[in-house]
Amino acid sequence: MNLCIVGTGYVGLVSAACFAETGNNVCCVDVNPDVVKMLEAGHVHIYEPGLEELVKRNTAQGRLTFTTNIKEGLKNALFAFITVGTPSRPDGSCDLSFVHQVARDIGQNMEDYTIVVDKSTVPVGTADKVRELIQEELAKRGAALEFDVVSNPEFLKEGDAVSDFMKPDRVVLGTDNVRTAELMKALYAPFARSREKCIVMGVRSAEMTKYAANCMLATKISFINEVANICEQVGADVRDVRMGIGSDSRIGYSFIYPGVGYGGSCFPKDVKALINTARQYDYEPQLLASVDDVNDRQKLVLARKIEAYFEAQGGVAGKTLALWGLAFKANTDDIREAAALKIVEYLVGKGMTVRAFDPVAGDNVSKLWTAGGLDVVDEQYAALDGAHALAVVTEWNQFRTPDFRRVKKLLRAPVLFDGRNLYSPTLVAEEGFAYFCIGRRAAA
Ligand code: UGA
Repeated sequence: MNLCIVGTGYVGLVSAACFAETGNNVCCVDVNPDVVKMLEAGHVHIYEPGLEELVKRNTAQGRLTFTTNIKEGLKNALFAFITVGTPSRPDGSCDLSFVHQVARDIGQNMEDYTIVVDKSTVPVGTADKVRELIQEELAKRGAALEFDVVSNPEFLKEGDAVSDFMKPDRVVLGTDNVRTAELMKALYAPFARSREKCIVMGVRSAEMTKYAANCMLATKISFINEVANICEQVGADVRDVRMGIGSDSRIGYSFIYPGVGYGGSCFPKDVKALINTARQYDYEPQLLASVDDVNDRQKLVLARKIEAYFEAQGGVAGKTLALWGLAFKANTDDIREAAALKIVEYLVGKGMTVRAFDPVAGDNVSKLWTAGGLDVVDEQYAALDGAHALAVVTEWNQFRTPDFRRVKKLLRAPVLFDGRNLYSPTLVAEEGFAYFCIGRRAAA
């Protein structure tokens, strides 16, 4: 089948490469000519494991092409996917201007029946608006072309996006048109091999499903973070509590890892957007508002532990902190809403110097950070030299079993703040570290 995918961010590019891999002809459209040039040369502008290989192979075999010209992209395409960004506005609502512009571009340039697929995360009602805008543009041209608008939200995790696409838990298809649903199912058949994995529903329900899924996961994280904070107060260990509750299959073990709060381009934005949508409909979403508040507070939990530890030593001002991990989670270079940045901002604001290392996100932080007080180094152990303590903020594999003797030797004092509960308190204590983690009171 022929597909046009508008927007080559991680969702657009992953979808395009995976659809091409299963034999479809996919033309990607992006407004940025530099990005198009890079992609044509087989270079992927985002860090996503496995993606570059797929892009290179399918480009070389002629199934994946790139253009800045949407007319060219839409030529012969049965499906036109909208996968452009929907950034947050300061009030938490979604900025839909890119989605709306693409809808207009499709209306101005389509030449035949097209199934327009909303894959960007968009508030309920957006598909109706997209339909209206396309219709308006077609009317201006006097073109009586038929089209459908489907909501097909993505459930890809950064860092695992290719495997999530290839082996989805489910594919949500929002359409009232039976034939369109069958065509969409055929497109996804190589991935969602058992047909029950394709869940067909109304357009608004599909749009809502995306928000409900991310808000549910964010709620689990804020819940366990709240439990972790209570554990510290009452002398319990959240790691044991997690095992104790996760063993109940109704609860499950996943997404209840306590830590430094959820970050990234999805959960923070989507929780705020659903709160905003609910309020537009005069409904006060108390639970979601708390999920958001708990998360904001959690992002500073580690910084506050660091501050409290150094209080007895004249405060954090003038001290140096080594910090491992800047990305919002492991296996990505994405630093959007990363807890590490909040922690650095807070501690630098109190006069501390931070020397940080991240396996891939360092450059992104260096480009963004102009305020001083932060030095990004390109080797893990180089961050430690003479620092007063080490804080681990992202759960990269290479941080999981470090050479503790070397760490101890390089630090001024063996003090370890673990924002992801990566280490065994017993073993790090044996190595002589003062150890502070999440949801467990530090040993006296
Ligand atoms: C999330 C969802 O997991 C995807 O299903 C969804 O498609 C995507 O958003 C999206 O809407 O595009 P992503 O933001 O890539 O994916 O990252 P996650 O792996 O879900 O992690 C989000 C944050 O939660 C990270 O900061 C992570 O460290 C944190 N987290 C996750 C925890 O603190 N504890 C956990 O148990 C799990």
